[in-house]
Amino acid sequence: MTVKEKIDQLRADLHRHNYNYYVLNAPEISDKEFDDRMRELQELEKEHPEYQDDNSPTMRVGSDLNKNFTQVAHKYPMLSLGNTYSESEVTDFYDRVKKALNEDFEICCELKYDGTSISLTYENGKLVRAVTRGDGEKGDDVTDNVKTIRTIPLVLHGSYPELFEIRGEILMPWEVFEELNREKEAREEPLFANPRNAASGTLKLQNSAIVASRKLDAYLYYLLGEELPCDGHYENLQAAAGWGFKTSEHMKKAHSLEEVFEYIRYWDTERKNLPVATDGIVLKVNSMRQQKNLGFTAKSPRWAIAYKFQAERALTRLNKVTYQVGRTGAVTPVANLDPVQLSGTIVKRASLHNADIIEGLDLHIGDMVYVEKGGEIIPKITGVDKDARSMLIGEKVKFITHCPECGSKLIRYEGEAAHYCPNETSCPPQIKGKIEHFISRKAMNIDGLGPETVDMFYRLGLIKNTADLYQLTADDIKNLDRMGEKSAENIIKGIEASKEVPFERVLFALGIRFVGETVAKKIAKSFNDIDELENANLEKLINIDEIGEKIAQSILTYFANPLNRELIERLKSTGLQLYRREEDLSGYTDKLAGQSIVISGVFTHHSRDEYKELIEKNGGKNVGSISAKTSFILAGENMGPAKLEKAHKLGIKLMSEDEFLTLIS
Ligand code: IVH
Repeated sequence: MTVKEKIDQLRADLHRHNYNYYVLNAPEISDKEFDDRMRELQELEKEHPEYQDDNSPTMRVGSDLNKNFTQVAHKYPMLSLGNTYSESEVTDFYDRVKKALNEDFEICCELKYDGTSISLTYENGKLVRAVTRGDGEKGDDVTDNVKTIRTIPLVLHGSYPELFEIRGEILMPWEVFEELNREKEAREEPLFANPRNAASGTLKLQNSAIVASRKLDAYLYYLLGEELPCDGHYENLQAAAGWGFKTSEHMKKAHSLEEVFEYIRYWDTERKNLPVATDGIVLKVNSMRQQKNLGFTAKSPRWAIAYKFQAERALTRLNKVTYQVGRTGAVTPVANLDPVQLSGTIVKRASLHNADIIEGLDLHIGDMVYVEKGGEIIPKITGVDKDARSMLIGEKVKFITHCPECGSKLIRYEGEAAHYCPNETSCPPQIKGKIEHFISRKAMNIDGLGPETVDMFYRLGLIKNTADLYQLTADDIKNLDRMGEKSAENIIKGIEASKEVPFERVLFALGIRFVGETVAKKIAKSFNDIDELENANLEKLINIDEIGEKIAQSILTYFANPLNRELIERLKSTGLQLYRREEDLSGYTDKLAGQSIVISGVFTHHSRDEYKELIEKNGGKNVGSISAKTSFILAGENMGPAKLEKAHKLGIKLMSEDEFLTLIS
């Protein structure tokens, strides 16, 4: 067998096993065998780049190359559906169709999947493009990201039309979504509100390798093209399933209004057992010929309609309110409830956000409270059933005055809703959070260490602050739970390597309140070393571009604490870059000093992030939206019409990529 034949065979095999596993749920080989074959193919492809193929199963692994999305016009506009909320509106729709067609018709009933819509184009059986809905006329080309979704076929089987589009919904299954949010919670990152946001956010990530790790799924529900196999929409989708697509197994043809209602009533409760989010039912006239007759209004088809389920609400008892302390010391009140079934999960806890919300609800322990999910995953309390209050009602909920973890008196900053525990240096969740932030990718990027390991080290008393990390030895940790010689060495190596991390990132890693990445960069540019920063007064600090009084105050407060100063001394003595090296400054100029620059469109020489970095390195400021204060727009290809018009109206100059590069060179 030639190498080419071997590659072709592996590709065909892997496509088939992928389909068996992900679409049919009926694997024929073990995961290990699958991985082994995938690895074999990856190696052969690496050795033989001449046989590269954009639709190889290896494309599913994604790549960490950054890219900006190109906008692509939809061949057929992507319309939305008219929404209805009651059975009588559904009856109206049915009667309108009946009257307009004046002949027998079938209605295809489907679930309305609550994700983000996608349009896929296939040419000669290969996926050539995947485009988001965008504004309906044009969307973002997210092909590389979509290729990582295992249920979307890259290559089709059977007899399919030469050219067609198929549309559907990209979803993040509940299970994946909940896991992702748990991870985010552990890292104290903002959570995704619901699987829809998580799916669309993931699809727009620049790094397709991360997309691949997020385990998205897709259901296809609409076939478009000039040469479709059948007149029936339902039958077309059955055919598409035969070519390798994942379509919904819950589609059903109805022949009367009563059958439509049966479907709606059944799924209103049964949908809670589905692995993905749904927010309604879609009703479509089945015959494409009849669809054509009915046509479209400006916004939506006359042949289809959505029926939306009501947001779910449950009534349950509030048992107590507990408080969580985060890395920054922010204290979140959490309602502890009698367990109650809501949208497919059992809810025991709901966020109460802050003291004002509690006050607004006039909450008492023992109250019967309304909990809602309404598309949001983190349940919230939306009201109190005051009529249910009896003589036995408990105390009014009063926000705590002292930290539940360390006992410090809480403070509330002016203009902020949250309460904070000010004990930054010895409140356990704050210490752990600070260490987690310190080791994170954008800070010291310490390989091999994660939140769980930090938690274990902290619990065992091995570390109490970030400087303690540098005192650890492999011997200290190799016998710990789930550790071993190899991982212990890796951790120590990672810690050692972090001594090369430049000043600006070390500053960010310290976790000074309000000192994010950008501010840290500005500070690193303005001071030679940490001692200079430590001795700076308010005036000197607010003279730095982008540093206002709030940030300056926070820096002063940080250094006023002797424990922080002691920590810095220890970090200094371990050899961290707490000073600026000559090479850190190379590439920095003042050429764009005082200029506010908007980046818009698609670029060829550098990515958007690189341009942002270039603007900052040259003393400029990258801003998000165009205003009278914008100095110029760094304009790539395909700038949106609304932005163009605004720039024109305000008389703001557009600068091309090449002009910009010349300007700063
Ligand atoms: S059909 C022209 N079918 O709902 C009609 N849409 O507001 C094309 N959706 O943007 C859409 N499940 O994202 C159709 N079974 C289904 C659907 C569905 C979810 C979404 C889709 C669309 C929106 C309509």
